[in-house]
Amino acid sequence: MKIQIPRGTQDILPGDVELWQYIEQTAHDICKRYNYKEIRTPMFEQTELFQRGVGDTTDIVQKEMYTFEDRGGRSVTLRPEGTASVARAYVENKLYGDPNQPTKLYYIGPMFRYERPQSGRMRQFVQFGIEALGSDDPAIDAEVIALAMGFYSELGLKNIKLVLNSLGDQESREAHRKALIDHFKPSISEFCSDCQSRLEKNPLRILDCKKDSNHPLMTNAPSILEYLTDESKQYFEKVKSYLSAMEIDYVVDATLVRGLDYYNHTAFEIMIDGEGFGAITTLSGGGRYNGLVEDIGGPNTPGIGFALSIERLLMALKAQNIEIPVEQSIDCYIVTMGEKAQDRSASLLNQLRQAGISAEKDYQNRKMKAQFKAADRLKAKYTAVLGDDELASNKISVKEMETGNQEEVAIDELVTYLQGKC
Ligand code: HAM
Repeated sequence: MKIQIPRGTQDILPGDVELWQYIEQTAHDICKRYNYKEIRTPMFEQTELFQRGVGDTTDIVQKEMYTFEDRGGRSVTLRPEGTASVARAYVENKLYGDPNQPTKLYYIGPMFRYERPQSGRMRQFVQFGIEALGSDDPAIDAEVIALAMGFYSELGLKNIKLVLNSLGDQESREAHRKALIDHFKPSISEFCSDCQSRLEKNPLRILDCKKDSNHPLMTNAPSILEYLTDESKQYFEKVKSYLSAMEIDYVVDATLVRGLDYYNHTAFEIMIDGEGFGAITTLSGGGRYNGLVEDIGGPNTPGIGFALSIERLLMALKAQNIEIPVEQSIDCYIVTMGEKAQDRSASLLNQLRQAGISAEKDYQNRKMKAQFKAADRLKAKYTAVLGDDELASNKISVKEMETGNQEEVAIDELVTYLQGKC
């Protein structure tokens, strides 16, 4: 039997990987400007972290986690998302003790969810996410959203829409929870078994159910916005006014509840409009999670963040025909003729590379014509031809491929010559 790649995963091959590198570099750059520092956490964690962090009643924990027992009998899980891990690292490394607060962190790395694979929904996908822990200033909420929106616009993406909601504080949520139970209880038998078991445990999750999304009770379900306490309302107003001051457009959607349990107050998703994009139109999501750090055993700490997947971003860029400027060429290809030239070219090549010039030579014993073809395929800016005659005269003939201009350069001068050009 042929061994194949696991379903819902992909190989990212040369040619495409440059796009990833460009996007990752854009993420590093924007985080530097907003003063978020990179954190790298393990790809697997104790299962309990996600049960407590993401929430026992969520689809992610109930259906989508890659959970297994390690050889020591511990239950571990491949991380389905980054926020719980960052919160754990924040507690474990006592980052709250750092005088620089809030703690502003970002990550780029693979996440794992056992979902039904389709375009934009993978079993392994790469998230770029940021988390700001230790501040409940609504200006931080706006900053996180501004970074997310700015990232997309720096990559040239158009027609993106910010959808915003508030899930309120504990008191608001409790009042809303009661209203949801009252609303759904009389007809709960018409809903799927997941929703039935969620009614008492976590009725907000019913609103997120994909199977029952067309049930008439869904459309007139009580809106969280009607149950916000004055304080929560004010908080939401403040976030919106910061966004307006930053000239970031948004639409408020009271049905936006997000698929993870840790959220309160601000919740948002960034969606893409337009043709060429399939059923999945959410590019990223995030929100405030003031109880998460405490839930996993840390001090009471507010937090907010967002995450996006690079896979969905690439789909969106493709749908809008946006070209990413990627450097695919090399500086110099050394064409060799004869054994002596081959020997000499190895050290010459090394000198070029050490001097910061990207360079390549033939290793297949190809004829000169085929070597020039190889140089073309590699989009070499210069070719340098080295044969017995050149070795005897200590000169190498260098050709600029775009113009066809050719010059003779002393072999020992090749590095300096190309440094001046490349
Ligand atoms: P999430 O909404 O579950 O939130 O995921 C965030 C983003 O990850 C999605 O909008 C989507 O771009 C991407 N994503 C999720 N699942 C898949 C998949 N199966 N295939 C491809 N892309 C996917 C979170 O993960 C939260 N941790 C976000 C957050 C950070 N909230 C606060 N801080």
